[in-house]
Amino acid sequence: TDFKNVVASSGCMIVVSNRLPFVLERTENGKLIRKASAGGLVTAVAPVVVNGNGLWIGWPGIHLEDPNEPIPESDPTDITPTAGLKSKKVVAVHIDPVKFDDYYNGCCNATFWPLFHSMPDRAVFRRDKWKAYVEVNKEFANRTFEALKNLKHSGEDIGTDAPLIWIHDYHLMVAANWIREAAIEEEISCKIGFFLHIPFPPWDIFRLFPWADEILQGMLGCDMVGFHITDYCLNFVDCCQRCLGCRVDRKNLLVEHGGRTVRVRALPIGIPFERFVELAEKAPKLLSTNQKIILGVDRLDYTKGLVHRLLAFERLLENYPEHREKASLLQIAVPSRTDVKEYQDLKEEMDQLVGRINGRFTTPNWSPIRYIYGCINQNQLAAFYKESAVGLVTPLRDGMNLVAKEFVACQINVPPGVLIVSPFAGAGETMHEAIICNPYEIESASECLHRALTMPEDERILRMNYLRRREKINDVNYWTRSFLHAMGSLATQEGLDDMD
Ligand code: G6P
Repeated sequence: TDFKNVVASSGCMIVVSNRLPFVLERTENGKLIRKASAGGLVTAVAPVVVNGNGLWIGWPGIHLEDPNEPIPESDPTDITPTAGLKSKKVVAVHIDPVKFDDYYNGCCNATFWPLFHSMPDRAVFRRDKWKAYVEVNKEFANRTFEALKNLKHSGEDIGTDAPLIWIHDYHLMVAANWIREAAIEEEISCKIGFFLHIPFPPWDIFRLFPWADEILQGMLGCDMVGFHITDYCLNFVDCCQRCLGCRVDRKNLLVEHGGRTVRVRALPIGIPFERFVELAEKAPKLLSTNQKIILGVDRLDYTKGLVHRLLAFERLLENYPEHREKASLLQIAVPSRTDVKEYQDLKEEMDQLVGRINGRFTTPNWSPIRYIYGCINQNQLAAFYKESAVGLVTPLRDGMNLVAKEFVACQINVPPGVLIVSPFAGAGETMHEAIICNPYEIESASECLHRALTMPEDERILRMNYLRRREKINDVNYWTRSFLHAMGSLATQEGLDDMD
């Protein structure tokens, strides 16, 4: 009901993201089917779209010969949050495959991903890829505006307030202005919000992108721009001031641009906490071992610090031989963006390193590292989270990192395990009772592991209680409500008293 109330007061919501909340697949007999995605974002946002007469606009994960081929309804057995998302509430954006590859792999994954994670050496800057990015953003914007217009003229009850358009992530940073301009032209009111799911880098990194100003102008086409933590907000505000010369208010996080005032907000994302608790309660026992499991779960991505993590574990076994045969590292690496060379190289490096460390320490009864390169389902995941003694979340840089939050939600056994988290993840900003571990320094990272493995029970209980309490309150529903609140309370005549 919370959702219904908030949504009713703000009309309807149109969500725009690179991927739809499910992908389409073609079965062997040529039938199109939906394959649900289980991410927290989908869980939180899908009900708002379903209940609020909204729409979800995005790429369907497959290139269709005939773009008019209808999107199938969900399977009757589907119990995921997108099950209620009727096909008429979904707009699939079809892009020419070559252009899509330039936009997605060429620009989003090869440029913005590394740059925004403050790894500029890995970023490729190419005019043709950027051009494709802008074009694809324009296509998304056109489809969004069309959808807005149709909705307005559909005769459906879309509430009294202006429809709310919520654009997600670094794939769609320059889409807002086209939507806003078209809406003004045709006198259709709407409010546009944007949320970035990855870090926003500091000015001296951001400005390396040759078309940096255009990104800022694109984001400033929104009424409100949200980030996970205040640091990213301040970076963004700083960039607006230094690149575009905007007047800004750092205290109230406001940016003035083109005669409008744009709000900037820190809205740290949470997880569907209760769902993970339930999964953990029902989880089958999967790990038949009396060793302590140190667990890592990540997409195979160079931002996740996987190589550093293996080296830290190797150092633990060197410096603290008492953990040999007593502890093992279970690392799950989910294949990701396998078309990009950096990801292929990392796969090679990991394979070699796991082989070397296992070759060095394995005994007839024990292997130090169990390495799974593949996908695991939510039930298995919850079982691993529940049974592990240490959750090891040590990215070199990460917007938020939901694994840290899922791990604590599933730690329902008493006494619980220990969370280790990197200060360079958004999660490191709020999960204070975790062991905070700088992944770059292998020696101290190995000491963090030792400390986690030897921490007294009462300390573990105390820390985990605090961690779980916080995530339970600040769950993903709370996040969605905060976003809606930040949008709903937009004031058009906002004063900018403290501008500098
Ligand atoms: C990050 C991004 C998401 C993205 C996900 C998976 O979490 O913030 O927008 O969907 O990675 O990456 P992919 O390229 O497979 O969509």
